[in-house]
Amino acid sequence: MPKRGAFIVIEGLDRSGKSTQAAALLRRLQDAQVSAKLIKFPDRTTPIGKMIDAYLRSESELDDRAIHLLFSANRWELASSIEATLRSGETIICDRYAFSGLAFSASKVRPGSQSYPLLDYDWCRTPDAGLPAPDLTLFLDVSTDAAKARGGYGEERYEREDVQRRVRDVFVRIGDQVEAGGGRWEVVDADESEEAVRDVIWDAAKDLVKGVDAPIEKLWD
Ligand code: TYD
Ligand code: MG
Repeated sequence: MPKRGAFIVIEGLDRSGKSTQAAALLRRLQDAQVSAKLIKFPDRTTPIGKMIDAYLRSESELDDRAIHLLFSANRWELASSIEATLRSGETIICDRYAFSGLAFSASKVRPGSQSYPLLDYDWCRTPDAGLPAPDLTLFLDVSTDAAKARGGYGEERYEREDVQRRVRDVFVRIGDQVEAGGGRWEVVDADESEEAVRDVIWDAAKDLVKGVDAPIEKLWD
């Protein structure tokens, strides 16, 4: 049996350098003659993605559960194509995935409260169960100060310091759960220079991108 492609997810807060690093990893793989492609979530180009885009730009209001399920549905739209790509031997680098879905939704708090959760963590996790599971997740951990120094957050919903702090706390919990389930979750210090982060990511990914023998696992199985 020929080896399948690796499924590598890059996660992190806004301004952590995910998209830059995902693009850099893709170039490095192409230079090394590894067949690879880059995808990102949310995929704003599909009909569901357009609803997500309007919500993120505050052009529409949606119930918190409804938007959570739309983010998940946006991944399910692509699930079979992700599996087919991996089976064809091509590696996928994925800029955000189900862990963002869980972290951003489960960190929401009730209006006027700083801590009382709006949505239950396990309720948020369930819709993504069964998606193709990553072989490796790189969590780009950026401090608030470094994120600010990079020009601060943008205009979109969630791009606020208090939101990002809470999201980070949930990401830490998710990482523990992924590892407890036998998955690979690597925390990368994203306050470091772009080049340094690039090297750490390459070190973590370089064996995997030679191809994977194991079957594609299911998320949260
Ligand atoms: P982001 O990757 O920041 O998009 P862009 O690179 O176009 O700015 O994603 C947009 C926002 O969506 C980001 O704040 C995280 C949030 N998000 C969720 O709330 N749930 C999800 O499932 C995903 C994938 C992202
Ligand atoms: Mg963003």
